[in-house]
Amino acid sequence: MPKKIRLGILGGGGDSLIGILHRVASQINDNYEIVGAVFNPDHEASIAFAEQIDVPTNRIYKDFATLIEEELKLPEEERIQVCSVQTPNFLHFPMAKKLLDNGFHVICEKPMTMNYEEAKILEEAHQKSGKVFALTHTYTGYPMVRQMREMIKAGALGRIHKVDARYYQGWINTIIHDKEKRSSVWRLDPTKAGISSCMGDIGVHAFNLVEFATGLKINSLLCDFNYLYEDNQMDVDGTVLVRMDKHVKGVIRSSQVATGEENGLAIAIYGEKGAFRWEQERPNFLYKLSDTEPLQVYKPGHAYNSELSLSGTKLPPGHPEGIFDSMANIYLGAAKAIRGEKYNDGEFPTMTDGVRGMNFIESTVASHKKGNVWIDLD
Ligand SMILES: NC(=O)c1ccc[n+]([C@@H]2O[C@H](COP(=O)([O-])OP(=O)(O)OC[C@H]3O[C@@H](n4cnc5c(N)ncnc54)[C@H](O)[C@@H]3O)[C@@H](O)[C@H]2O)c1
Repeated sequence: MPKKIRLGILGGGGDSLIGILHRVASQINDNYEIVGAVFNPDHEASIAFAEQIDVPTNRIYKDFATLIEEELKLPEEERIQVCSVQTPNFLHFPMAKKLLDNGFHVICEKPMTMNYEEAKILEEAHQKSGKVFALTHTYTGYPMVRQMREMIKAGALGRIHKVDARYYQGWINTIIHDKEKRSSVWRLDPTKAGISSCMGDIGVHAFNLVEFATGLKINSLLCDFNYLYEDNQMDVDGTVLVRMDKHVKGVIRSSQVATGEENGLAIAIYGEKGAFRWEQERPNFLYKLSDTEPLQVYKPGHAYNSELSLSGTKLPPGHPEGIFDSMANIYLGAAKAIRGEKYNDGEFPTMTDGVRGMNFIESTVASHKKGNVWIDLD
């Protein structure tokens, strides 16, 4: 049995939304041990949280620069191998870059950076480093998303005609509609969130899902944002028309003001031989639609699934696995890469996905600001 990978965590403190998902996911396949962290910008809060979750406090550092400096003093066999960056967006780039420059592997939350320029710089740093970089587009870890990708790759839909992806949330409504609150959260502050709120936070997941599932690239887009309030500096809703490889057209709809919606990420891909439909809130059902045959439902864990899909299932069919498992699959793929083991393409989102994502986000902003015009992606 290989030794556990020594994991450091940046952000993801007890006050965070996403920290628990990463911590649990990192443990699910028994690959990682949390050995060091900066859970919060406040050192005492960081230590208190480490005590609460039983992480040794001797490697809880006051900030990420100190973490890197002190870890580099340790013998290589004790040093943190990979750091997981779970902070607000503005810290992803400086943290990930410094980590790569100093020889650490990186697992990073999305959006990868604040803008496209930073993404290109990070890509270069990654290439120089030779280290593993995994971006946590969580939803690509679901077995049925992976199955959809593999079946499309094998030609199940024939020529694709239309793609429709949407990510609708309502939970941030109470903040957006309250003038004081919307001016105080980092998600609606361009200096902390980046150039886009809605498209950067959730639209980019839908974008990633479209490219992951179809294997096709989005070449150009036209976007219309809604800011809803005059004092609000950032988009809270947006609709994007997309033109893809092979003349495929589609739409990506993203909203943080979709009252009553929960985590409504869904995708439909329509082709000449049939269509796929998948919804994040029912992740273990992949629907295959046809004009001539009855509806088919694919489910995880069955032998008819692809290798990539089955690599993301731990129990026999009928034992529901969910968002923690999906994130765990990304950690599992990253663990294989860190150990130099064989893994399938698609087991974790990469630097390329991050650069594409930032190219997408920046293009949506440019399209809207120029008066809803078509913008080409690189
Ligand atoms: N993959 C997904 O599905 C998904 C879901 C939610 C959030 N996210 C992403 O995760 C990131 C965090 O989101 P969140 O909702 O958990 O944010 P949050 O505001 O709830 O938590 C951020 C955490 O980072 C800590 N932090 C802030 N500054 C820090 C610093 N300088 N050093 C160390 N820690 C610091 C905070 O104390 C807090 O614990 C964002 O980039 C967000 O886009 C991804």
